[in-house]
Amino acid sequence: MPPARGLFISLEGIDGSGKSTQARRLAEALRASGRDTVLTREPGGASGAEEIRRLLVEGDPDRWSPETEILLFTAARRDHLERTIRPALEAGRDVITDRFADSTRVYQGATRGDLRGLVDQIHSAAIGVEPDLTLILDMDPETALVRGLARDSGEDRFEDFGLPFQQKLRVGFQALAREYSDRCHLIDANADPDQVASNIAEIVRRRLP
Ligand code: TMP
Repeated sequence: MPPARGLFISLEGIDGSGKSTQARRLAEALRASGRDTVLTREPGGASGAEEIRRLLVEGDPDRWSPETEILLFTAARRDHLERTIRPALEAGRDVITDRFADSTRVYQGATRGDLRGLVDQIHSAAIGVEPDLTLILDMDPETALVRGLARDSGEDRFEDFGLPFQQKLRVGFQALAREYSDRCHLIDANADPDQVASNIAEIVRRRLP
């Protein structure tokens, strides 16, 4: 008999909301409980997708139109899905991804432009899958932006759109949590990181077989 399919979990939120730390902590917690877990990210998570990542997160904010961004993020996602996510889930491994399609819905669909219809069309034609569970880290944009820029990662193209952009993103993620209330959980990420990690672990534990 083939192994039971793994659990597919995404973490989402504005820039600097602590997703990457929480994704890592969740992967560690799942591995400690004996589950075989893959930790990955978008844009990226496969070698071609990581090459596309550099085109998207570096350089001038006006480098791409929102429409072109949708195509580039979707190309990276398709590569990530084919080479990393799907094989892992089919082998019975859990997959935790730091961002997935909800980022395109909010960043390109609702914040960079009013393009949600186009995002949905391209998603259903090229991707067509959703995570089993999505954890949306909700956080004050001012604190998050300072934190994100302080990292000085050279990947600040979206942070460079400024604070009003991050505020709009937060509202977009909150709306998404209501739209997909079965799949999405809004997590208060202003809390102490240990508390955030334990809230996330509890939600995930309830979804495990
Ligand atoms: P990261 O900093 O969380 O690794 O993500 C890179 C940037 O790309 C971040 O500012 C969010 C942005 N992004 C989009 O605009 N649309 C997308 O679909 C994804 C996956 C990321």
